[in-house]
Amino acid sequence: MKKLTTKGIRELKGKKIAMLTAYDYPTAKIIDQCECDIILVGDSLGNVILGYPNTTHVTMEDMLHHTSAVARGTSRALIVADMPFLSYHLGEHKAIENAGRFISQAGANAVKLEGGAEIAETVRAITNAGIPVMGHLGLLPQSVNQIGGFLTQGKTDEQAARLIEDAKTLEKSGAFAIVLECIPPELAARITESVSIPTIGIGAGPHCDGQVLVLHDMLGICDGYVPSFVKKYADLQANIRNAVAEYVNEVKNGEFPE
Ligand code: KIV
Repeated sequence: MKKLTTKGIRELKGKKIAMLTAYDYPTAKIIDQCECDIILVGDSLGNVILGYPNTTHVTMEDMLHHTSAVARGTSRALIVADMPFLSYHLGEHKAIENAGRFISQAGANAVKLEGGAEIAETVRAITNAGIPVMGHLGLLPQSVNQIGGFLTQGKTDEQAARLIEDAKTLEKSGAFAIVLECIPPELAARITESVSIPTIGIGAGPHCDGQVLVLHDMLGICDGYVPSFVKKYADLQANIRNAVAEYVNEVKNGEFPE
């Protein structure tokens, strides 16, 4: 199977790109075998795997550990790793160093950074170092404490205009694609038309060039808050619960092992 590159992803502009999160070897392997184009080692790791209330607690070491596991299970998909909270805000040198660790140590193919014009110089510095960058606009979970909650963004004309400019700036700074999270579908359509790199939506309607979901949300594994835009493709929590309960019961009744 031919490995997807950022060039290949850019060429999918106007077609539909499928992206999912993964945090470990076995699920990455399954997702890759299903020919999902991009696997995102999201810092949603913090919420869905590590049990934190949000992504601000996730460290570089957490991300590198899980990215390495995903890389070992992936042959075809492009692997994008989220740069965690504050790992790209302490100067360009530090940002390049951290981004480089995802490529050379963990086996990622690209990194994702949250923000618009305010991080444009950092995006430029990282891409100049030969490391592909995916942008992330709209709801920025790493800024949850500043935003005041996981709220839809870009609802006013002023915010919408700023997001369109941010998308153009990220493209100019060298980003190869942009995630658009929790913005009105019409705005996502305008941003998608305004840039020549693919947009990948989550809670941003059907007009983006691709879609991304958090794996554990779409598989129905998490029992906490799940955003209303998520489509549940399975109810694995119930399946796992039934299987574990049956096992416990059989062990206690002496039915297993036979
Ligand atoms: O961390 C993550 O899973 C993400 C997606 C929500 C795009 O950034």
